[in-house]
Amino acid sequence: MPGGKDTPREENKLVPPMDIEDLAAKMPHIKQMQEYIEKYSSFVKHDPQPRSVTGEYVLITGVTGGIGSHVAAQVAMRDDVKKVYCLVRANSPQHARQRVLDELEARRVGAVYDNFSPKALDKLHAYPSEMGKPGLGLSPSVLEELKTNLTSVIHGAWIINFMLPLSAYVDNIASCQHLINLCLATRSPKPAAFNFLSSLGAVAFMPMIAPADPKTGRISIPEELPPTLAATDPNQGYGQSKLVCEHICHRASVQNPSLTTRSFRIGQVVGDDVTGIWNPRENIPRMLQTSQLVGALPDQEIGVRFLPVDKCAGAIVDLSLPNLNDASTPIPGGVFNLTNPHVLRWTEDLIPMLRAHGMRFETVAHHEWLERLRALPQDTKRYPPLKLLPVWGMWEVQRAGSAPGVGGAPGGGTAKRNIISPDVHWEVDRTSTWSPVFRTVTLPDQRLVSAQLRWLESEGWERDGRGQGRGGAAAGSKSLAAAKI
Ligand SMILES: NC(=O)c1ccc[n+]([C@@H]2O[C@H](COP(=O)([O-])OP(=O)(O)OC[C@H]3O[C@@H](n4cnc5c(N)ncnc54)[C@H](OP(=O)(O)O)[C@@H]3O)[C@@H](O)[C@H]2O)c1
Repeated sequence: MPGGKDTPREENKLVPPMDIEDLAAKMPHIKQMQEYIEKYSSFVKHDPQPRSVTGEYVLITGVTGGIGSHVAAQVAMRDDVKKVYCLVRANSPQHARQRVLDELEARRVGAVYDNFSPKALDKLHAYPSEMGKPGLGLSPSVLEELKTNLTSVIHGAWIINFMLPLSAYVDNIASCQHLINLCLATRSPKPAAFNFLSSLGAVAFMPMIAPADPKTGRISIPEELPPTLAATDPNQGYGQSKLVCEHICHRASVQNPSLTTRSFRIGQVVGDDVTGIWNPRENIPRMLQTSQLVGALPDQEIGVRFLPVDKCAGAIVDLSLPNLNDASTPIPGGVFNLTNPHVLRWTEDLIPMLRAHGMRFETVAHHEWLERLRALPQDTKRYPPLKLLPVWGMWEVQRAGSAPGVGGAPGGGTAKRNIISPDVHWEVDRTSTWSPVFRTVTLPDQRLVSAQLRWLESEGWERDGRGQGRGGAAAGSKSLAAAKI
């Protein structure tokens, strides 16, 4: 592939190896991760045969979420795509369809994409599904149809809750195995491609354990599997589950060389710059809302890598489906870092943009901001951002370097960096090479930031939970699902 990024490089080896082994031995989650990787990495064999249909048939999960709804809209808009299978948690086909339509409407995809036509909408078909089950909860006839038609899977459905242990993700992990087996069961010369929405959180501890460039002091996170499972956060099942599935993807394509699997490590996604529709339950919206509760925001040394959801979805589609301009050059498998390479510094860049938009607040030290929040009546119904106090409190402890982890913790002890440190360099060469949309991503500007704030101010702050305005199977079940990375 261009740039030769597929070959592991010397400088990415962790040093010193003995320290890492020692750390791994002290971390019981690593054993559990390894067990899940073994357990869910057995796959059927693909039987190559001629394909009886033409065109792209794409299965997407997570369509009732922010990224998945944009991915579904963009996939359906492509001329080469014949049908989109949306797997949804629902109790009937009608309920599944309604949930997809509600989400597309809530995300205003018609306003974001000029060419989201009725023709595109007609390509979207929703199926009630249980992805933790081997047959994905689909009827035999739908499974047969998929085996004949399917060309790509884009898998985004995932529990997003930073407080859950790895064991809570068993069904999600199993869903990767089941979907990969479906790709391998297709009646085609080559299996359908499997594309997994991972997270920077999969390698949350890489900035702490990767060696810095001796000349620049810069830490680079490559687009490849980390050399150790200790690269993820020992205290966060979410990131651990993502790294487990990156490994399952890798194993699947090693066992079946004709199978392409890709893991997209997504960073901080925000609303598009037209509607600014952003999940108000996420970390940064919640943090911004605290300015209304305590008149202050924290002064903190973090980097903000806002990636608008339409660009994120566009890059996922570019990387998952055949290249529209050159279908004869296949897009390679492997890991892609999908985070905005252009960084805003929280205090120096973002805070002035918030003020330019008209927000009024003072900046105070992080611990003082936490103290002010703790002094409020701890009523999360009245003050929804307080739901994230445990997460912010944990980060504060980690900053002080007293939490268990590698070399102390983010920002503390011997570890001076974490994944949101402004000076950590996320390599994006592979993503840029293969995604024309990603190459158009720029430094977040006032327009993008103001679009987010207008949305949050007009509707967003109030929409705490999916029960309001977007009836969903999971209404109210995601209260701590907030601090996405
Ligand atoms: N947004 C970000 O900044 C970000 C950053 C890094 C990675 N990601 C990854 O990108 C993907 C999509 O994220 P998003 O921001 O679009 O999330 P979202 O808006 O919260 O949507 C999550 C989706 O996952 C589904 N889901 C949740 N728990 C499930 C379960 N146990 N079984 C089956 N489906 C389940 C939801 O379905 P219901 O509607 O039925 O609940 C929904 O469709 C996720 O894999 C996430 O980890 C996102």
